[in-house]
Amino acid sequence: MDTEKLEKHLTRLDYGLAPESDAKAKEWLGEHGHLFHHFINGIWSPPRNHEYLTVNNPGTREVIAQVANGGAEDVDDAILAAEKAFSSWSFLSGHDRAKYLYAIARSLAKNARLFAVLESMNNGKTIRETRDIDIPLAIRHFYYHAGWAEVHKSEYPELVPGGVIGQIIPWNFPLLMLAWKIAPAIAVGNTVVLKPAETTPLTALLFAEILRDEVKLPPGVVNIVTGDGSTGECIVKHSTPWKIAFTGSTEVGRKIRKITAGTGKHLTMELGGKSPFVVFADADLDGAVEGVVDAIWFNQGQVCCAGSRLLVEESVFQEFLRRLKVRAAKLRIGSPLDKAVDIGAINSREQYEKITRLINVGKEEGATFWQPENCACPSGGYFIPPTIFTNVAPTDTIAQEEIFGPVLVCMSFRTPKEAVELANNTRYGLAASVWSENIGKANDVASKIKVGTVWLNSTNLFDAAAGFGGVGESGYGREGGCEGIFDVMKDPALEVDYPQPQKEPTVSVVEIEEIEEDRECSIDRTYRFLIGGKLARPDGGMSFSVRSPCGALLGLAGDANRKDVRNAVEAARSAFQSWRNQSAHLRAQILYFLAENLSNEARRFARGISQATGRTIPDAHFEVRKAVERLFHFAAYADKFGGTIQQVSSKMTVMGQREPVGVMGIRAQDELPFLGLVSALAPAIAMGNTVVCIAGKHALSALDLVQVIQASDVPQGVVNILTAANPDAVAKVLAEHEDVDAVWFFGSKDGAAAVEAASAGNMKRTWVSPDLFSDWRESKNVSKRFLREATQVKNIWTPFGS
Ligand code: NAI
Repeated sequence: MDTEKLEKHLTRLDYGLAPESDAKAKEWLGEHGHLFHHFINGIWSPPRNHEYLTVNNPGTREVIAQVANGGAEDVDDAILAAEKAFSSWSFLSGHDRAKYLYAIARSLAKNARLFAVLESMNNGKTIRETRDIDIPLAIRHFYYHAGWAEVHKSEYPELVPGGVIGQIIPWNFPLLMLAWKIAPAIAVGNTVVLKPAETTPLTALLFAEILRDEVKLPPGVVNIVTGDGSTGECIVKHSTPWKIAFTGSTEVGRKIRKITAGTGKHLTMELGGKSPFVVFADADLDGAVEGVVDAIWFNQGQVCCAGSRLLVEESVFQEFLRRLKVRAAKLRIGSPLDKAVDIGAINSREQYEKITRLINVGKEEGATFWQPENCACPSGGYFIPPTIFTNVAPTDTIAQEEIFGPVLVCMSFRTPKEAVELANNTRYGLAASVWSENIGKANDVASKIKVGTVWLNSTNLFDAAAGFGGVGESGYGREGGCEGIFDVMKDPALEVDYPQPQKEPTVSVVEIEEIEEDRECSIDRTYRFLIGGKLARPDGGMSFSVRSPCGALLGLAGDANRKDVRNAVEAARSAFQSWRNQSAHLRAQILYFLAENLSNEARRFARGISQATGRTIPDAHFEVRKAVERLFHFAAYADKFGGTIQQVSSKMTVMGQREPVGVMGIRAQDELPFLGLVSALAPAIAMGNTVVCIAGKHALSALDLVQVIQASDVPQGVVNILTAANPDAVAKVLAEHEDVDAVWFFGSKDGAAAVEAASAGNMKRTWVSPDLFSDWRESKNVSKRFLREATQVKNIWTPFGS
């Protein structure tokens, strides 16, 4: 060929079709007559209500199957099967369970191509992604958790599997989300009922078939019930599952939180996101452009942690966008089964319409819209080209709402501080990506962004050994890593039932006389709150009488209202940043000092507790001694409950750092009021949180603590103490407060339900527990759980090597 011809040929050169064969997947669908039932107790079970849903191929809009639309009776059957299987499955040795999980991983690997094709056909994602990412990660998840089946008993002897777990997953990573849910749960001995998303149930059903025919998993350990949101709701409302693990929209997460409030069910919530992708001027800009492609156009942007908000340092903003648009224009959109395609189909008509609506909102709100010119989308399916918006204000709808599509919104910043502010200007907190060649700056910014995962100079990386999950309205709990193991196990020492209301303890005549004597000198005591380091009168001017069990007036305590709560939260919020930035060493020193000062006043406190509770002086003294011990204990842990380096399989260092949760509300328990208060506030502040505590029935010892706090160098606002005649009601106000990050509630069962329901507002973490009367006395019983509840893990991924 002469040069001229060759040149002509090369300029015309285009990609040919490189389709992956769908023959095997079609054959499998055909074998089932394109009709699928639930997988319950190891057999295909037709829906009792005879209802079916239609399943489409979003790349072509063809109907490819019908699946059962489960009702309450199907869910009952599945949960019963799981319940029956639990005793024998959890009784197996870890080693025996591990063998099943290895077998699952091997069977997935053996059938990887079929899974990849079926996933692309059903979800619309490209075969490159299903083949190279979804399926290998799912396989890795089973291998990794086979390991946990072997070792969890020796690593965490205090934890046990809880029984049946209800699991509800979305459509964006159907098999991978299934693996994230099922592998850890069954590894440690739970059994499960899983509901795939209505649009993408097929790989879950193929998985079920493999469990039965190849792995020979005992019937009932894994049950798959297909259906829509109402099927999911039946699982959530069922009384048997001890835990619900959910991935999906924040809106449905909120609903689940409200439905389960007060039931004692544990929750893991992996919800929406609006993740920032931060590029500094000193970054490798071409590398960062490739990063953006992976962040927002991977899986058509239908990724909970998609880097959907691009924040670029102003000096390189225009140049970065120029390069990004050149690259985006080269992305190929086409049939999901074409091996040379970068962007596949949007999963469903609903999702397509939602994305289109939000694109229109962006245009109407005045942002500048860009899509590649002459971008040809295949006809037939639901396709949207890569879309970029500039001239976006941080408050615009498209900058705030999760679009869940291939739509990027871009903003610029001038300083690292501004970058952090913009990054945190969202109610979500799932992930972030930070690009800079200055490792100090990158790490500093990573530590300040409020999320569960940060990728430095990289993006959208996942591994079974690195727990994944969010903060804020992105949810709570972690999946993967050792954090994920805690979330599928129970600590029986802390799972006691709510006690029956007890009668007040009786007091002897001698003790009554002693109390009456004391009353003489304490009657004039009216106590104030501790807010922002200062003594504050109740806003409403109301107080309540605190009486001994025999009715003697011991003092008057302020009765907190909403305004007092707001003031206390504000004080705790303004103290938070500097307290969390203190070294753990310094926080420990302050706790030791507090312990020493309390120890010096032990007699006075014991007397007060004895008066308030009617218990003997020695018994009250014991409680104060335990409180002192508890302060020393958590002071010791301040610099010892650190993070870990996660052993992921790529060339990355993943630092799992434990960060404080933020501003915490604490409703202390009543039975051992003083020890209860100290036991809760000590770990919370040791880990860097600031707290608003509410004391009720025995408020005076809490208020006595104020003087000790003030004398112990505890910075203003770190500990705030309110009292209330009805502390459960004030705890609910705390749970409703948007600027409170977590609430610990150790009060009545009804109060716990109210707190959990109210927490759905900003999806704050809650820990509600009965009084735990006896368990609170021993540090070893409470220690680790308190520390875990007082922290959240942030995984920071850093590449190494060149
Ligand atoms: P969704 O949250 O409604 O569905 C997720 C799963 O929850 C599905 O299995 C669904 O059947 C089930 N579900 C729905 N209502 C339920 C209920 N009341 N009780 C129990 N289970 C229920 O998500 P959808 O409608 O598919 O997508 C809507 C938006 O949610 C998306 O546009 C996206 O913004 C977001 N989303 C976020 C995901 C994430 O991973 N963060 C995943 C899927 C969607």
